[in-house]
Amino acid sequence: MRPPLSYLRCSGCGWAAAATDAYPFRCANAGDDDVDHVVIRVLDTAALHFPRGTEPDPFARYRSLMHSYHLAMDAGLDDDEYLQLIAALERSVAAVDGHGFGVTPLRRDALLSDRLGFSQAGGVWVKDETANVSGSHKGRHLMGLLIHIEVAERLGLAAPGDRRTLAIASCGNAALAAAVVARAGDRRLRVFVPADADTGIVGRLRGLGSEVVPCPRQPGEAGDPAYLRLREELAAGAVPFTCQGNENGLAIEGGETIAYEIASDLAGVAIDHIVIQVGGGALASACAQGLREAAELGALAREPRLHTVQTTGAHPLERAYTRVRAMLPAGERAGQGGSPGPLRRVDVERVLTAAAQHRSAYMWPWETEPKSIATGILDDETYDWRAVVAAMLATGGRPLVVTEDRLAEANELGAAAGVAVDPTGSAGLAGLLDLRQAGVVGADERAAVLFTGVRRG
Ligand SMILES: Cc1ncc(COP(=O)(O)O)c(C=O)c1O
Repeated sequence: MRPPLSYLRCSGCGWAAAATDAYPFRCANAGDDDVDHVVIRVLDTAALHFPRGTEPDPFARYRSLMHSYHLAMDAGLDDDEYLQLIAALERSVAAVDGHGFGVTPLRRDALLSDRLGFSQAGGVWVKDETANVSGSHKGRHLMGLLIHIEVAERLGLAAPGDRRTLAIASCGNAALAAAVVARAGDRRLRVFVPADADTGIVGRLRGLGSEVVPCPRQPGEAGDPAYLRLREELAAGAVPFTCQGNENGLAIEGGETIAYEIASDLAGVAIDHIVIQVGGGALASACAQGLREAAELGALAREPRLHTVQTTGAHPLERAYTRVRAMLPAGERAGQGGSPGPLRRVDVERVLTAAAQHRSAYMWPWETEPKSIATGILDDETYDWRAVVAAMLATGGRPLVVTEDRLAEANELGAAAGVAVDPTGSAGLAGLLDLRQAGVVGADERAAVLFTGVRRG
């Protein structure tokens, strides 16, 4: 039998999901140990080709890079049946949100390139997600999951009638996206929110048919109460419909379509840098993995340097990166301007494999609640820290911690460029402003940012 073109395994302990597992989202060994258990999807890039189709729907265009597609093909479904399944779901998404998923625009922005002092050779490339389903990129993670669940049911991997409740803890873009996608899939969704959640968002979630569960803090309880209630719901059998790799590793895959689209649109033109805002880390993890696969498949001239952006109030990823980097041999640790050059993947993997056995030495929740205008990147932990630290080390990128003034400046620039982006969505541009000022990104270089969330209200 030929080896699978796509499989799922835990990057912390090596556990591999059985191909017959309908819900292979979380490592079976994840529990109370200190190992960083995150399920990752591994593609056999040596045996695959980068899709060159022109389908407007990314889930159709890049289907041969999706786990659910290989699951379906291996079980005897044909390409047409898979496409029909996606098309039916997209029709439902459109009925709920006005339109389904489509490839989003990528362009060199002349105004931003000019304002940031780039030459004609270089510039700022903006990938604009603000008009995507539910107003952010988050739906990509969840649509990938919904397609997987539908395929698993079609193949009989889930017992007939076992339409499990979906669950998420969020009161922002992820919750809104989950509510739209769950509704499109005609699935019950429970959304765990903080007791003081925005009433406008709660109203919208209820309007979309989700069950909203306010989570006041219980006496003596430490940590995020909404997340604690979600964990209880998952333990009782709900499906993690989340945008966090530790709860659902397959959620990363749908986000990778952003990177595949960038690779297709650049059509062989190399970008030197990509700067990504990080909350829980799923977005950056997805882009890192997608860009890497695109490069391995020959669709990108080379991987760009991946830089990340967090706020002065909350930067757990930067803390983890600094700690991991301190484990490198002195020669590799040294580098120009505070970041090492690209390191060999084997060396990166060696140091992160060791780090992943002692998660609590690298990642823990913030002690006091931070504030920022970039509310979407204040997660108490960077759940997908390992993959993102690995990508920064392997590409020679760095973690940036930006001020509130920078976030505001970037947001004004985004508006000047004609995009109704919110401060979280333009935070990558804040990082690029810092990188330009520090001289890390040269005037003749090409840098990409993602405008990920629409300004609401
Ligand atoms: C608009 C927007 N951009 C970026 C992010 C960060 O994504 P992640 O949490 O996957 O790091 C978020 C998260 O809520 C968001 O809402």
